[in-house]
Amino acid sequence: MAKTIYFIGNWKMNGNYDSIKEIERVNNFLKKKSISKLKKIIFCPPSNLLMSFSKKINTKLLDYGAQDISRINLNNGPYTGQLSAKMIKESGAHYVIVGHSEKRLLDEDYKTIKKKISIAIENKLKVIFCIGENLFQKKKNLSFKILKKQILNSIDKKINFDNLIIAYEPIWSIGTGIVPSNNYLDQIYTKLKKFLREKYKVNSPILIYGGSVTPDNVATLGENSLISGFLIGGASLKSKSFIEIIKNYFR
Ligand code: PGA
Repeated sequence: MAKTIYFIGNWKMNGNYDSIKEIERVNNFLKKKSISKLKKIIFCPPSNLLMSFSKKINTKLLDYGAQDISRINLNNGPYTGQLSAKMIKESGAHYVIVGHSEKRLLDEDYKTIKKKISIAIENKLKVIFCIGENLFQKKKNLSFKILKKQILNSIDKKINFDNLIIAYEPIWSIGTGIVPSNNYLDQIYTKLKKFLREKYKVNSPILIYGGSVTPDNVATLGENSLISGFLIGGASLKSKSFIEIIKNYFR
């Protein structure tokens, strides 16, 4: 069965109110009937822009996600700096990124990540869960061991995988212009799939790839049939490159 391909724009700490025109252009492109229906487009702008964007461009063609969620499972309260699941949903988002390596570096440990994932899902938000090894770990041949550890420490056995997108993002690829070879990706995704089947009894997990995805490399990356989409940083900031990525994937 043909599957849905995810194109998720992770804007990180970029963009301003004016950047809505980039989303507008993507939305106009998506209106064209010529492109495959089997795709899901999600924008994750900074939280200060989420609500205004989702109110202004609220179509069936694209969706929104937050870049973080509070680990406090309350709707509101005296928690400076926190954004609750309820607030995220009110801002029009249906997804949230958890476990991104840039966030792990700042303040997300396993316990926090696990908590955030369960709070998000409990509150009917879908989670884009990021995993990935750094260059040192890769060189030591520890990549898969690290991914396993990240999953086991964050994902509860009882989780419903319909609510989870696992984004494999090798840290050495994020923002560097370096992407793994197809051979390397084949090994990683095959092992991931097997591991998830054995440990979590899930047959068709949603696995995507992130790290220096561009219009030039997306078709090659897409050759791997286990990859159901992309988490795109830099190239999602401008509609031109984001649209090219979608086009080139389906070409
Ligand atoms: P990049 O970022 O596409 O700029 O490498 C990807 C990510 O960090 O999600």
